[in-house]
Amino acid sequence: MTKKNLFIALEGIDGSGKSTQAKYLADHLTKYGHKVYTTFEPTDNRIGTIIRDIFNHRMEGDHRVIAGLFVADRLDHLLHSEYGILHKLEDGYTVITDRYYFSSYAYHGVHMSMDWVIAANSLSANLLRPDLNIYIDISPEISMARINKGRDSKELYETIENLTNVHKKYAQAFDLLKEEEKIFITQGERSENLIANDIWKEVKKLL
Ligand code: ADP
Ligand code: TYD
Repeated sequence: MTKKNLFIALEGIDGSGKSTQAKYLADHLTKYGHKVYTTFEPTDNRIGTIIRDIFNHRMEGDHRVIAGLFVADRLDHLLHSEYGILHKLEDGYTVITDRYYFSSYAYHGVHMSMDWVIAANSLSANLLRPDLNIYIDISPEISMARINKGRDSKELYETIENLTNVHKKYAQAFDLLKEEEKIFITQGERSENLIANDIWKEVKKLL
């Protein structure tokens, strides 16, 4: 059997189950014989750490600065000679990322022109488009309930008003880019197993 190593992005508002589903998908792919590398944005490298400091209110940063930092963090995430996604793909890994450029379109599209965000991320999009963008759709209310259950402190973007806007911007971005991007939307307010099976059925079509 020839194994095509894929690049898959998981998308969704905060608490939608991306990291949970990344694990299920990695397990399925591993059992299928793939070498899997799971990663995430914002990264935990130098640029991603600046972003996390802003989100955790340790540092001030305007929304436009945050959008710019994500452009840089993503390019580093792609191009770095050790942990870069392009390097991992060349090494034969199937790569799953918890968030990629659609997160920027949705989260920064709330505060600034989405066209600018898309243009600013065009270097990344031209370097590497996901074989599949998987969007786990949950309501902002369920998202807030899950965030509130999980921890005491809130990050910058974790308010019901903002997540309602982000949820709408995701829909707008998917509509805008439906011709050039492969997008699979799965209903996320179901059991983890049902969602995982849906995702695996879709990914298997690409293998
Ligand atoms: P994300 O990575 O999108 O922030 P997580 O996978 O960390 O989301 O999940 C957020 C919270 O919701 C966690 O407490 C997780 O256990 C829970 N969770 C994940 N998937 C589901 C699901 N399908 N139904 C109910 N709770 C879920
Ligand atoms: P993440 O750690 O994935 O949070 P969660 O697990 O709660 O979904 O992402 C942290 C925050 O970063 C999240 O609120 C979304 C935001 N974000 C952006 O604003 N722009 C981006 O380009 C990315 C990748 C994330």
